[in-house]
Amino acid sequence: MSIPLSIELNDKEFRILDQQKLPHVVEYLTLETLEDVYDAIVTLKVRGAPAIGITAAYGLAKAAERYETNILEEFHLQLNKDFLYLANSRPTAVNLVWALERLRSSVENAVTVQEAKVLLLEEAVNIHQEDEASCRNIGEYALSLLEDQTKVMTICNAGSIATAKYGTALAPFHLGSERGKKFEVFACETRPVFQGSRLTVWELQQSGVDVTLITDGMAAHTIGAKGIEAIIVGADRIAENGDTANKIGTLNLALLAKAFNIPFYVAAPSSTFDLTIKSGKEIPIEERPAEEITHIAGKQVAPLDTKVFNPAFDVTPGEYITAIITEKGIIYPEYTKNIPSLIN
Ligand code: MRU
Repeated sequence: MSIPLSIELNDKEFRILDQQKLPHVVEYLTLETLEDVYDAIVTLKVRGAPAIGITAAYGLAKAAERYETNILEEFHLQLNKDFLYLANSRPTAVNLVWALERLRSSVENAVTVQEAKVLLLEEAVNIHQEDEASCRNIGEYALSLLEDQTKVMTICNAGSIATAKYGTALAPFHLGSERGKKFEVFACETRPVFQGSRLTVWELQQSGVDVTLITDGMAAHTIGAKGIEAIIVGADRIAENGDTANKIGTLNLALLAKAFNIPFYVAAPSSTFDLTIKSGKEIPIEERPAEEITHIAGKQVAPLDTKVFNPAFDVTPGEYITAIITEKGIIYPEYTKNIPSLIN
């Protein structure tokens, strides 16, 4: 049993697990150019907020290694151009811009181009390593909230392959599995692109966690029928008041948790908080191609020319969130007061 990883760096290259091909094909893909990195993010070969940030960081650092100029000013101009290109690949997960900004800040005081190139790669490695440590801490805090044998529901994949390792919402299950703790996880399949069935079920099986797949529409019935005791999800961006953007369908689960009177937890590292925004109203929601809904595995399942609305995320108001589990500790309401005091 092992916990799968999605991003690898060796002497020459960095590779990602191609998540489009899972669960049937486990294949790593070398990202050579900036365009490869952009494409991998847009087409969900790599996805999940922290993993997108780490990939963009390596992508920018590796692209900068290939800049031919020795003039710092030209170096910074090209870096800013590539920064903007990658920053526009996906709009909702704030970890993307957060990681790119960390790289840009790391070279502000560089004296030579050569030094800047080294600093960029070092910072990307730092981001990668810090995320693994953060996810481990999130797992520990989450374990303190979930008793052994708990039946827990989740949506999308906020797992090891969406981060450096362990994941956020799935971290307690991986750590629990290492320690002989038993959870029963119910994974929503997560239409339209099936991160739940293709990724979460596969990932938890790799780790030896008891996981049951349901369709998204079965969530309400399953909470009652199977006695679900808690819901835990990841996040793409959390505003100062706790409003949380996450995979479409998350809001449904939050409303169900309230109706069934069970806790609804969000698990996320501090890189997912955006304290420049006061509420979820300011979070940009990505809309993705209609084909994700009209087609399943390449086969058309809706009439030709069907009108489609395909938002990839929704925003759960902070008032529906029992607690937000971070690597720095567990945050309870009142979020407007408690988020800035822990995260800043
Ligand atoms: O569109 P995706 O697959 O990138 O959406 C991912 C999610 O919504 C995750 O729950 C979130 O990024 C947290 S990953 C630790």
